[in-house]
Amino acid sequence: MELIVYSALDGLASRLEVYRDLSIIAPSKLDQARRLIAAERPPHAIYVDDTRSTPAPELWGLIHDAHTAGVRVLVNMVGAGQVILSDARALGISTTTDRDAASVAAWVGAALGISVRAAAGAVPVVAIGAAKGGIGKTFATCVLAEGLRRRGLRVLVWDSDISNPGLVPAFRVPASAPSYLHLVQRGPSSWNPTGIEPFIYHAEHTAATESGWGEIAFLIGSHAVARAENDVRLPDWQGLYAGVTQINGFDLVLIDTPPDYLRRPYATHTLLSGGTVVLPCPPGARERMGVGHMLDHFREVAPDRLDHTALLFIEPEHGVVTKVENIIPIFGQRYPEARALGTLPRAPRLASMADEYDGYISMLDLGPESVFAQTTHRIVDSLITYLGLTPTLPIPKLGAWPALIGRLRGDRVAVPSANTTVGALAAGND
Ligand SMILES: Nc1ncnc2c1ncn2[C@@H]1O[C@H](COP(=O)(O)OP(=O)(O)O)[C@@H](O)[C@H]1O
Ligand SMILES: [Mg+2]
Repeated sequence: MELIVYSALDGLASRLEVYRDLSIIAPSKLDQARRLIAAERPPHAIYVDDTRSTPAPELWGLIHDAHTAGVRVLVNMVGAGQVILSDARALGISTTTDRDAASVAAWVGAALGISVRAAAGAVPVVAIGAAKGGIGKTFATCVLAEGLRRRGLRVLVWDSDISNPGLVPAFRVPASAPSYLHLVQRGPSSWNPTGIEPFIYHAEHTAATESGWGEIAFLIGSHAVARAENDVRLPDWQGLYAGVTQINGFDLVLIDTPPDYLRRPYATHTLLSGGTVVLPCPPGARERMGVGHMLDHFREVAPDRLDHTALLFIEPEHGVVTKVENIIPIFGQRYPEARALGTLPRAPRLASMADEYDGYISMLDLGPESVFAQTTHRIVDSLITYLGLTPTLPIPKLGAWPALIGRLRGDRVAVPSANTTVGALAAGND
């Protein structure tokens, strides 16, 4: 899609360049823009603002011509040009009043319905998403990363939940590890592999091993709860995302996302940009309702990407009366496009032992023969197949004993109970 940008807004063109299938023409003179509009094959769209101090009547001439020629017009007036706004709106033209290049670029992208570029050779991205905190996103990120690493894959774990950075204690990331919040402040010209690489933390305890295990490396935002002024604006996060996917040396980027999915739609962005979303799904009523909300949201904004979502069922906590096997067929029926990766057992004892351990240890090493570890390996294998990754190591060997238990526990035929729905779905939309 061709977009004419008639603007002197600092940084706008570079922000627009991250969009897929968008070629930008930026004439510096008004009559150049008018000639492009009058051409036999005019461009698809034009963005016009008043930052070039062009007199309003001349801007209006350009806008009017473009509109008449059937070109999609996007108008942003922040100064003298504001007198035009109501006339533009009367023609049904999209308008805004915004001096911030990042949010203007995001506005243009949204108005044109385009998503950020996933360049050729981009690293596959998996966002762990949820509409709710405390559901197991960080937990799932940890065990999936460790499982993938045991297949020889190199994983970059990106902690995007700076309001509650659970990965830092889980992986014992030291305070000396750099924070990408500084990188965000440096601006878009730094959001490329060369700029990002110094902000990747390589931990000794998750380094690649001689036996062929891959590495887990980290992009950490904050070590404690981030301060409000450190909040990363969505267009900045999206710019960083584009840079992260260009980094060499990783087979996969795993993103731990925050739960406020409407304000920080990182999982949605991942899905729209060609990535995959994994949703941890404990069977409790509130949890599965949250997962249902996420899937409904994806169905609304990215219906053709729903087949790039996967459900990671998680056994309920002690005392929860709902069973995972009752929930699986209901999700299957309601969201047939979403893949089920398997059911992660609950292992509070292993989790607690890992938490209390002096230093970092993976739960997979604390209980290598456990049902938990063996099930994790099978889930990781499903994820690898789903993503089309090429592992260099086989599934860690199952001992006879856990394999038997796995068969007894995991592979039972599910029997749905008649009156259970995705989210009690009380709202009556079922
Ligand atoms: N399968 C599991 N086995 C044991 N503990 C779990 C499991 N899944 C989640 N938990 C625990 O539940 C709590 C919340 O999980 P967490 O991953 O921090 O949630 P979120 O990142 O979604 O806010 C953590 O204490 C975590 O250790
Ligand atoms: Mg978390």
